[in-house]
Amino acid sequence: MSATAISSVTGRRVWNSRARPTVEVEVALAGGARGRAIAPAGASRGSGEAVDLRDGGEAFGGYGVERAVTAANGEIAAALEGLDARDQEGADRRLVALDGTADKSRLGGNATVAASMAVAHAAAAAQGLPLWRHLADDAEPVMPLPEIQIFGGGAHAARRVDVQDFMVIAVGASEYAEALDWTAEVYRAARAIMTERGLLAGTADEGGHWPAFDGNEQALETLVEAIERAGLEPGGQVGISLDVAASEFGADGRYRLARDGRTLDTDGMCDLLGGWIERFPIVSVEDPLAEDDFDGLAAFTRAFGARVQVMGDDALVSDAARVRQAAEAGACNAVLLKPNQAGTLTECRAALEAARAAGYGAVVSARSGETEDVTVVHLALGWGVEQLKVGSIAHGERTAKWNEGLRIAEALPSGGRLPPRAAFPWGTRCG
Ligand code: PGA
Ligand code: ZN
Repeated sequence: MSATAISSVTGRRVWNSRARPTVEVEVALAGGARGRAIAPAGASRGSGEAVDLRDGGEAFGGYGVERAVTAANGEIAAALEGLDARDQEGADRRLVALDGTADKSRLGGNATVAASMAVAHAAAAAQGLPLWRHLADDAEPVMPLPEIQIFGGGAHAARRVDVQDFMVIAVGASEYAEALDWTAEVYRAARAIMTERGLLAGTADEGGHWPAFDGNEQALETLVEAIERAGLEPGGQVGISLDVAASEFGADGRYRLARDGRTLDTDGMCDLLGGWIERFPIVSVEDPLAEDDFDGLAAFTRAFGARVQVMGDDALVSDAARVRQAAEAGACNAVLLKPNQAGTLTECRAALEAARAAGYGAVVSARSGETEDVTVVHLALGWGVEQLKVGSIAHGERTAKWNEGLRIAEALPSGGRLPPRAAFPWGTRCG
């Protein structure tokens, strides 16, 4: 047996940042190397995602993962044992075939993604390499530009505001560490402003401030003010990025904005968001329309895609076929990559390749339910993806990822240097 042959696969139940159980898988190789990974979990999920296998019933609100852990220890272990861990595609093919469903519902996307990522970690460990280096082969990666949440909303803050994520992107930073420094100052300034005005209600799921705002525009105004109070230039140095997550409040071409007290059709949503793009230094908009509104996404992209990044998350669900379909329709110009939406690394990577073939940008993303697992940081580096989104710059499951990036930057020949502005679709809008 070769040293990189998989000798055992162990599943166990661990905990995520929402106090819910999740699946960890540990893979051991014949030569003694080991790798492990933990499945994240989303709260605003696209209908086309791989689904997590949950136990249902009373315990843990139905979020138990005993069945997924059993699958990892049983069927998944039997299918992977003996395979060479360096053959990621071969391992992932086995997982896909073993599950046999289109949405990983039999074994659970939580079990398959943890197993898939653990195989990659074990293969890297066997070669004595960090995962990013193992994935990058001979390429010399550059640090991804962080996209960081300041306020939570939508499904992450009991729908206090309709928009799910109010984030910043330090578009003017030249170094990864500088982008984090600037963002931390904005986070702090936002907290101070909200405290002064009695608008701070707590912390949302991804570590951002839980706002007591009366509407989406108050969030945008406060964010601009926070950037200024941090001594930074809105737009030139720090741009705003929104995850509208419109599938959460819209379907069949109707969008109900609870806080603004109105219902809009697709054109109305495009006009509303277009107005915000005019008035505020917005550089990126994720899921501006619902996942079933491909025509709307295409219209939005035609109207604003030359000025802002139009990112597909719930609409594209890290799925290569959907990315190709979107490209044909002209919907979106960038894709969010969440490994657990696909269920295996190979399928997620295929979505990236489809995005590249279409000339789309890409962002590797964590989920709102997270852990100390830092695999996504290594994927962004190893796959050469130019942006990274892991929530806010607070809470250990978020800082674990940003801090891993700081360590990796020290090891890169390019240091912490960020991709050139020309690599981003808002290049003409900022700087
Ligand atoms: P999630 O959403 O709650 O499904 O992880 C995060 C996002 O929409 O980017
Ligand atoms: Zn999203």
